[in-house]
Amino acid sequence: MIAPPKPELVTVTIDGKEIAVPKGTNVIEAARLVGVDVPHYCYHPKLAVVGNCRMCLIEMGLPAVDPATKAPITDPATGKQKVNWMPRPQIGCATNASPGLHIRTQTPQIKDCREGVMEFLLINHPLDCPICDQAGECKLQEQATGYGRGYSRFIEQKNVKPKRTLLGPRVMLDDERCVLCSRCIRFAKDVAKDDVLGFIDRGSYSTLTCYPGRKLENNYSLNTVDICPVGALTSTDFRFKMRVWFLKQTNSIDTESSVGANTVVWSREGVIYRVTPRRNDEVNDTWMADSGRTLYKQVRADDRLAAVKINGTDSGLDIAINAAATLFKAGATAIVGSGRSSVEEQFLTKKLAGALKAPAYLVSRVGEGDGLLISADRNPNVRGALVTGLIDTLPASRLTDLAAAIDAGRVKTVVAVGEDLAAAGLSAAQLAKVTVIYIGTHANATSAAAGVVLPALTVFEKSGTFVNQQFRVQKFLKAVPGPAGATDDLVVLAKLVAAAGGGSLPAEINALWKVMAAEIPALGTMTFANLPETGLLLDAAPWAALPFVEGGTLHYQPAKPAAAV
Ligand code: SF4
Ligand code: FES
Repeated sequence: MIAPPKPELVTVTIDGKEIAVPKGTNVIEAARLVGVDVPHYCYHPKLAVVGNCRMCLIEMGLPAVDPATKAPITDPATGKQKVNWMPRPQIGCATNASPGLHIRTQTPQIKDCREGVMEFLLINHPLDCPICDQAGECKLQEQATGYGRGYSRFIEQKNVKPKRTLLGPRVMLDDERCVLCSRCIRFAKDVAKDDVLGFIDRGSYSTLTCYPGRKLENNYSLNTVDICPVGALTSTDFRFKMRVWFLKQTNSIDTESSVGANTVVWSREGVIYRVTPRRNDEVNDTWMADSGRTLYKQVRADDRLAAVKINGTDSGLDIAINAAATLFKAGATAIVGSGRSSVEEQFLTKKLAGALKAPAYLVSRVGEGDGLLISADRNPNVRGALVTGLIDTLPASRLTDLAAAIDAGRVKTVVAVGEDLAAAGLSAAQLAKVTVIYIGTHANATSAAAGVVLPALTVFEKSGTFVNQQFRVQKFLKAVPGPAGATDDLVVLAKLVAAAGGGSLPAEINALWKVMAAEIPALGTMTFANLPETGLLLDAAPWAALPFVEGGTLHYQPAKPAAAV
């Protein structure tokens, strides 16, 4: 494990409470640490500060010093260093913690300012709340309650702006609700590098829109929905499907690539309704790709495998494991593991290969990286396979060695863990020469050709860990139950290991981690239960010489070739 660096701390005083925070911490964030809410709209921790909503006004003071000698000036009343308070409120979002900074957030002046800002923001805001999809996570609604004056003095006609405008295939705009915070504009321009949004017109008539002839359709467009503090931007996929307060939140990981963006899966009664990003400043900040948000649809896909099968006939798990044991006794087995399997599953796959003295293969998936949160390695966990020792070199995209071994008659049984052997290069004729034991979630050419099919769980239905491109071990948790007939991959693999004569290994994840940590030095003292939500970095030195395919992404730069160092 690698310990994170320690930041330089400064002491600030917020509403009379002293706190040490890293130097340069934004005042809104510093206040949060002492339980003080500084309301805001336009500020976002991962976007440039623009200071245009004025909701975050605070009183600010600095320690008084003698201008000539720079010696502290003591307040005779308190005996402490005097504080020079600025006569007018300042915006907290543009203020960073510096030594001795004093902040007041609860004075009559600040209360008055907030009520004024809320009144301006609500002048033209429609009274949509009962039918607005943002209810339950609307900052305007929350802050009107917490910081508004509680009644309206506005008797004029409200402005009417465009309603239900499709900004792109996945994002709907209701312009009347927009508070002109410009978060979406800054995100599109600065993070997604797709400068497609802007304001037109002035004052109360200011309106968000796409540039003529353009659409908000980049693969990060739904992040604008996440950061819109009101209900102006909504997701076409999620809007009006479910009230957010009914939804359970489960931490997960985006499996699209080796970046491993941290996510939250929102579900109710076993049904997933949406996936949103989870903040991890070392991996994905607060963003994720749109493409990763639809992966949950695989859970209820029509082609889910939900029945154990032997030679195409429905069977039971233990009968199928016995059938696998019989095949194992004949020898000549090969294992195809997966870079999509969890670390725990890869560990058990390695145990299976060891018990059978069988060669283990992995299938690589390489695409084009987007330089942000999709890397060129489209497997989430190739590094997990390295750490567990399932493989010791990077995989190829085609199973040519296995194909040659089958053609030469050296392999008679193939255990495929979540990989479609046909898609990885085995021909129908080669599949016909072997008996396949397929552990997987969805029907494909391999499951159709398999002698034994063992239905397993998607990433949304089980818990485990992945090792991302930084060699960061990250945890995902079970959000919904799997379909009847499917079994946790760990249970299936542990039974197969036992059937192969590899002994009894735990299928319960915490117990399995004890075994793993004892056998894999790189995991050190980690346990599954104690793994932080933002993951832990492993020492990547043992694998530094491997030619990983990834280019740079948001928080990852590939190691330079040795010659260039
Ligand atoms: S649409 Fe939302 S994020 Fe964009 S400017 Fe308006 S309020 Fe801000
Ligand atoms: S949050 Fe500070 S001005 Fe908007």
